[in-house]
Amino acid sequence: MGGYLLSSAFDSKSGQMILVALLIMVGSFYTGTLFGNNSPIYVSQLPSNSSSSSLPDIYTFSNKVALTYRKKPLLIPDAGMNVCPLMFNEYIPCHDVSYTEDLLPNLDLSKREELERHCPPPEKRLFCLVPPPEDYKIPIRWPTSRDYVWRSNVNHTHLAEVKGGQNWVHEKNQLWWFPGGGTHFKHGAPEYIQRLGNMTTNETGDLHSAGVVQVLDVGCGVASFSAYLVPLDIQTMSFAPKDGHENQIQFALERGIGAMISVLATKQLPYPSSSFEMVHCSRCRVDWHENDGILLKELNRLLRSNGYFVYSAPLYRKDKDYPIIWDKLMI
Ligand SMILES: *[C@@H]1O[C@H](CO)[C@@H](O)[C@H](O)[C@H]1NC(C)=O
Ligand SMILES: *[C@@H]1O[C@H](CO)[C@@H](O)[C@H](O)[C@H]1NC(C)=O
Ligand SMILES: *[C@@H]1O[C@H](CO)[C@@H](O)[C@H](O)[C@H]1NC(C)=O
Ligand SMILES: *[C@@H]1O[C@H](CO)[C@@H](O)[C@H](O)[C@H]1NC(C)=O
Repeated sequence: MGGYLLSSAFDSKSGQMILVALLIMVGSFYTGTLFGNNSPIYVSQLPSNSSSSSLPDIYTFSNKVALTYRKKPLLIPDAGMNVCPLMFNEYIPCHDVSYTEDLLPNLDLSKREELERHCPPPEKRLFCLVPPPEDYKIPIRWPTSRDYVWRSNVNHTHLAEVKGGQNWVHEKNQLWWFPGGGTHFKHGAPEYIQRLGNMTTNETGDLHSAGVVQVLDVGCGVASFSAYLVPLDIQTMSFAPKDGHENQIQFALERGIGAMISVLATKQLPYPSSSFEMVHCSRCRVDWHENDGILLKELNRLLRSNGYFVYSAPLYRKDKDYPIIWDKLMI
């Protein structure tokens, strides 16, 4: 372990506005909570006749399942919105991989521009309701959801396969289980958080008593860091790109943790200046040292004066580039 850069960094506020952002409120396209039971939502959706108690009626769909695109500005048909076909249950507007692929020749891949938000023209955007996955269940409530969510609600096997060994998330029958570990939260997130508290308060207090109230977690994974800051009354906004790990953010949202799809690339993040007392980045693979540290300048903008930038990357110590990167960072 080790290798934190914890600096009371950045009290000079350079007025330079740089980069940002990508945001997507991947909010609530699952409308499950509207319907008060745990049966698959396809079944309980909009029974067409409230007086009816006969089974067949319950299975009736009142909305058509059809792939439609927007032709006119936000004109919702009288018959209600169509429902997109089930295969679009992972669809996120402006994070459509096939559309981004078309743009690739014009994107600066060295700056990860391809992970930013790219919105197609209206006529290429889906204009139907994104359906929940098959067998969708009402989400498990906090605080249980810190540790368990329904397996079928986030039907991503890839992350568990890739990150299971790193203890992010494991499959347990009908559930996903989050052990509260993380790549380098070797002894769990609570211990890690306590350690940060010790580092910021002369070995006695916790992060909250060090004045940390709002945290930005960069490259948050399944957002366990955020989950374990809650007892300290610290609020965290977590973000991660939608990259090769599928959409990690969906795990965070399903757990009931505030998170969004975003990346530090070429645009500023959508937060006002001086929003956070701490920016946290553990093994987040952001090229902080590139491009004259332009991403660090964005952090500088987001951090309050005397805020903390926590950067921990223990696993890279053996990487021969790491000392060079570290030296560049410290300048
Ligand atoms: C509701 O039930 C009534 C009586 O059974 C029937 O006449 C009517 O067509 C039904 N409405 C719908 C939308 O199915
Ligand atoms: C989960 O995804 C797999 C493959 O992507 C698919 O075969 C399976 O039917 C999905 N399960 C649910 C409950 O959606
Ligand atoms: C933090 O400091 C307290 C008090 O000195 C100590 O008991 C605790 O073990 C420390 N925690 C870690 C993770 O180092
Ligand atoms: C920090 O700890 C040292 C050694 O225990 C002590 O001398 C010093 O006064 C402490 N500083 C604060 C700000 O508590």
